[in-house]
Amino acid sequence: MFSGYDSIASIYDNINAEIDYSKWADFIESAFNKYLDSKPELVLDLACGTGSMTFELHSRGYDMIGADSSEDMLSEAYEKAFSKGISNILFLRQDMREFELYGTVGAVCCCLDSINYLTKDGDLDKCFAHVHNYLDPDGLFIFDVNTPYKFENVYGNNQYIFEDENSYGQTTYCGWQNEYDKDSKLCNFYLSVFTEEDDGSYSRCDETQTERCYSLEELKTHLKKCGLEFIGCFGGYDFSQPKNDCERWYIIARAKK
Ligand SMILES: C[S@@+](CC[C@H](N)C(=O)[O-])C[C@H]1O[C@@H](n2cnc3c(N)ncnc32)[C@H](O)[C@@H]1O
Repeated sequence: MFSGYDSIASIYDNINAEIDYSKWADFIESAFNKYLDSKPELVLDLACGTGSMTFELHSRGYDMIGADSSEDMLSEAYEKAFSKGISNILFLRQDMREFELYGTVGAVCCCLDSINYLTKDGDLDKCFAHVHNYLDPDGLFIFDVNTPYKFENVYGNNQYIFEDENSYGQTTYCGWQNEYDKDSKLCNFYLSVFTEEDDGSYSRCDETQTERCYSLEELKTHLKKCGLEFIGCFGGYDFSQPKNDCERWYIIARAKK
């Protein structure tokens, strides 16, 4: 099972502190209002990570299931649930290409380019077919991807360093180097995490993650093949059409049964 998030799970939320999950959830709820006859009762947050969207939607009254393949990301989600006193979210360790639920759900969301982590031929179909299988008839699938523009012009072969200090004053450094191959459409991220220990020394942990760049046509083709009707591709939470330099596409599809 994919585990490229284990080393960075504990600093993941800080790395992504600028993501406004509340505004993103507003978009998801607007999509429910626009495209569903009634509010879904049960929502699956696929590749939920540390559960940021899961908790946001839970706070808005949805029954939530969060599924992710990384044990360490799920541990962070469990800890957050515990500290918030929430015990009615079902977190499952599942691969999005072959997950099993107890029944169907009214909507599936899959946020922050998790779909780009499906890198092998056939992965998209496996994931989309499972989403279709577990959606109620006409249920919504809402996901986003990093765009080809972002892979080519933003990730490229660039490198970044992130620094985080925990509540005990210990520092973690995370350096990552991107390597995008235009032919294979695969982008490797080489992560090195240096964590300060109690004695002031640093432990090092390395991980490699890979994302795959998908064109809109490819995504539409695979959605259709798996019984998911494409509703739209948007460039922002305002349902605007994506511009050429758009870095994230927000895509909405509906399960036809
Ligand atoms: C960029 S993070 C997004 C997490 C979360 N959706 C968010 O908004 O913060 C990508 C997530 O996808 C998960 N992931 C990657 N491949 C997966 C797979 N095949 N099945 C399930 N989860 C996967 C990773 O463990 C990670 O938590």
